[in-house]
Amino acid sequence: MKHVVVFAHPRSGSFIRQAAGAYVDELEQCGHEVVVRDLYDMGFNPVLSAEEMSGKAPLPEDVQREQKFVRDAHAITFLFPIWWASMPAMLKGYVDRVFSYGFAWEMRGETIEGKLRGRKGMIVTSSAAPMSYLEATGELRAFAVTQDFAIMDVCGIHVVEHLHFDDLGSQTTAERIDEDIHRIRKAAREHF
Ligand SMILES: Cc1cc2nc3c(=O)[nH]c(=O)nc-3n(C[C@H](O)[C@H](O)[C@H](O)COP(=O)(O)O)c2cc1C
Repeated sequence: MKHVVVFAHPRSGSFIRQAAGAYVDELEQCGHEVVVRDLYDMGFNPVLSAEEMSGKAPLPEDVQREQKFVRDAHAITFLFPIWWASMPAMLKGYVDRVFSYGFAWEMRGETIEGKLRGRKGMIVTSSAAPMSYLEATGELRAFAVTQDFAIMDVCGIHVVEHLHFDDLGSQTTAERIDEDIHRIRKAAREHF
């Protein structure tokens, strides 16, 4: 199976980088073909310009390249830390530019049609806030609506799991990280 794994975290020792490394390693061990898009390392430009938005000029090369990876993939995974109850602007800009109208979705009359149907999706996120806070404030539900539904599902991608790792910070023990990484590897093995 072909995968595109997109992740956004600028810091080398971050949880999300460890998570992405383990996830990709597990997929490869299971015989999958994986294309990794490390957005900060690539220096991806996340800014959607007026010209690009107009749809009149040919799509920039970087967007065409990313769209080919997504088009060719059977599964698309996003890994990112929660920043301001959302995704880092870097990844949001990737979605703005790469999941463009006509490529990832389009209108059929009054209905939105997802054009990436038949693909599986997976989301891995992390937060400093504990689950109790995320549930009480409605943020956890907001992640599901804005990420699983309004991006993946709207584009026709079936989210097989959204793994969220809460309560991460300087107090987090190595044992806890090992357990989290184990869950990520298990999910990679079980879903694909
Ligand atoms: C700009 C910024 C905004 C953040 N916003 C939130 C937030 O809204 N909710 C939250 O729980 N954690 C927030 N955090 C904390 C990160 O989610 C947390 O550090 C990360 O998930 C776990 O560690 P890592 O950076 O090693 O991957 C924020 C961190 C940064 C840098």
